[in-house]
Amino acid sequence: MTSIIQFADIHFGVEDKEAMSCVKATIEKLEPDIIVICGDITQNGSDEEFKAARDWIQTLNGPKLITPGNHDTPMYGLIERFTRPFAKYKKWIEPLSVAHFTNEDVTILPYNSARGWQFGFDWSLGAVNLKDLAELTDKIKKLSQGGVEMIMAHHPMIYPELSPLQKLTKNGSETLKYLSHRNVDVVLTGHVHVPFAIERQPNETEIMSIGAGTLSRRRRNKPASFNHISVDQKMIKVSAVEFTEGKFLSTETFSKRIDSLHSRRPLKPQKERDLGHDKLS
Ligand SMILES: [Fe+2]
Repeated sequence: MTSIIQFADIHFGVEDKEAMSCVKATIEKLEPDIIVICGDITQNGSDEEFKAARDWIQTLNGPKLITPGNHDTPMYGLIERFTRPFAKYKKWIEPLSVAHFTNEDVTILPYNSARGWQFGFDWSLGAVNLKDLAELTDKIKKLSQGGVEMIMAHHPMIYPELSPLQKLTKNGSETLKYLSHRNVDVVLTGHVHVPFAIERQPNETEIMSIGAGTLSRRRRNKPASFNHISVDQKMIKVSAVEFTEGKFLSTETFSKRIDSLHSRRPLKPQKERDLGHDKLS
């Protein structure tokens, strides 16, 4: 069994200090094989916040897989935001991340859905460059040892209905469709500050989406939380671990046999699962 801790939106600078003081002891009991951090590590993308984040991440045992969020670009300092949006992230956080994680149960690959700037005024929106998808999926197929295949990013590709925040990720639905055609099983994300685990299947985007909540004070009617995901050769289970009345409590939010995931049904021959370059539309 592989134990995955999924953090998102810690937002150092406005982190929930009480929850953060308990989280390390809580996750150690869950014996994680990999800790994924799905972006918005800081609030304003400042050196001070990144230093605090680095110091905390360094205290966590085992490998970490980290991707930035929109808040990890400089909030102040427009020139830096335009010219070197991820310079501070790369300096303070990137060296703490492994490039990917793979074993017989699961393979996880990160994708940066945040942008320093984009056309339009809302720079918090996520985006996927469609030309990145073939390379990303080729890579995960190459790394995969037959287990559950997960892509991690900051922004949900399609916002879940339960999210109080409803926006559009550029090329989000096309991304789910492409990943679905190539039988990638799961997208791990953050950004909406509420935990969720759903299988989505409109327009053939039959892929599972797992979102982690926040460990910051910027909450949307939900307690501070992170996700615990356990995966073995047969089952995937997701639990939201929520900070309530001074302690973390776990609630299972999703549990399914791997062979009944929509991404594997009907089970396509491996050869067909590896195709898909021509399916992008
Ligand atoms: Fe956030």
